[in-house]
Amino acid sequence: MKHLPRLFENNRAWAAEVLRSDPEFFVRLSRQQAPKYLWIGCSDSRVPANQIVGLMPGEMFVHRNVANVFVHSDLNALSALHFAVEVLRVAHVIVCGHHGCGGVLAALRGERQGLVDNWLRHVGDVREKHRTRLAPRGTEDEELSRLCRLNVVEQVLNVSNTTVVRDAWARGQPLAVHGWIYGLKDGLLHDLGVTGTSEAEIAASYAQVVETLAG
Ligand code: CO
Repeated sequence: MKHLPRLFENNRAWAAEVLRSDPEFFVRLSRQQAPKYLWIGCSDSRVPANQIVGLMPGEMFVHRNVANVFVHSDLNALSALHFAVEVLRVAHVIVCGHHGCGGVLAALRGERQGLVDNWLRHVGDVREKHRTRLAPRGTEDEELSRLCRLNVVEQVLNVSNTTVVRDAWARGQPLAVHGWIYGLKDGLLHDLGVTGTSEAEIAASYAQVVETLAG
């Protein structure tokens, strides 16, 4: 192995370890995946989806991008959602942000970084939408924490407004959408309370959570 030998060594050790406790693991998984969850999270290397919720390969379908944004014109995210809901028939879609998100911070500061500014404009839009709630008060850390949470709340709304999720609900398919945030400093997840299995539930919890974040 010429390149990145450490990663290949790690991989062999990991595969052997998995096989030790379950000799059929890979053969079984190679036939079919049946995850119950779709994870929509940030690309940040410190927020590895499966690891922080203790799930094995095959248990969670994952889509990650900078600042865990779900945009209605993003064919990549929409395709992942469509496949997860209509083919895999996951029961839960989890939008998970994290505190100390660099993408959200750049949007908060209105920094110019290059191409990514156009993507982070979506987070800037969240900031604009809640401008009065995000009026400068407290430290920048507190403002960042609030925008990280509001960004998750808005992305939950975006996921819930897709034709994919609306159609699933219309045909009676059990599907819940959740908004979580992860703490880099303690490794713990928190449910933001914006959750639901219908448009009405999402709308009600959205209003409540936004109100709370304003306080
Ligand atoms: Co991030």
